Amino acid sequence: MRLAVNIDHIATIREARKTDEPDPVAAAVLCELAGAQGITVHLRGDRRHIQDRDVELLRKTVATHLNVEMAATTEMMRIAQTIKPHQVTLVPERKDEITTEGGLDVMLHSGNIEKAINQLLDARIDVSVFVDPSIDQIRHCHKLRAPKIEINTGKYADAWKSGAWAPELEKIATAARAAKKLGLTVYAGHGLNYRNIDGIATIAEIEELNIGHSIIARASLVGLEAAVREMATLMRNPRRLPRGT
Ligand code: PXP
Repeated sequence: MRLAVNIDHIATIREARKTDEPDPVAAAVLCELAGAQGITVHLRGDRRHIQDRDVELLRKTVATHLNVEMAATTEMMRIAQTIKPHQVTLVPERKDEITTEGGLDVMLHSGNIEKAINQLLDARIDVSVFVDPSIDQIRHCHKLRAPKIEINTGKYADAWKSGAWAPELEKIATAARAAKKLGLTVYAGHGLNYRNIDGIATIAEIEELNIGHSIIARASLVGLEAAVREMATLMRNPRRLPRGT
């Protein structure tokens, strides 16, 4: 299972002062030196953290692979076709949300998502779709010929706080198995941290995790390289969790 680090919050710190530091490009280099196997950024419509300039420079400097999360809008498709990141993850976006709130409803927005997937694949950009652990949503991703999905682990992360994480973990494991059976590449992410990572890290079908907030938060205290290494170590050696809570 690979670790892709979402470095949005490096840009969040920079944008707090509308200045030029810290630079997400420098952060990406440090993450990769510490063992990250991918770099993820979310280019939001409101540009609250990552800027177009960051994506352009990261495309030239990231040595592993660059995954750009974006909404399937005309503006974002044009940017993706110009910058050509290695991968785009299609996500839902609501203006005043604090962070992505749930998976994309690919059935509701089927036409638009299909168009975006085709435009990206035609531009030779790999495509992943962020979806909730729902078999119907995953089947529809397959129908739209998305090669990859990222399963939303947000509900599992929320449930973890109350101890009732087991049913949510089971949903993710079942969804991951179904997706793999359909031939989809399976990623996961959202809300994962140093405490709740263990359950997810035991799901063999998941090839990559996208983790942002918890790594950057820890990095602010112990440094970016230590924070990335610690997470990569936990992913390699997940602690077995007691079942049935
Ligand atoms: N995956 C997707 C699709 C996301 O939108 C985000 C947040 O930008 C993440 C993963 C990372 O979530 P977190 O910052 O909670 O680790």
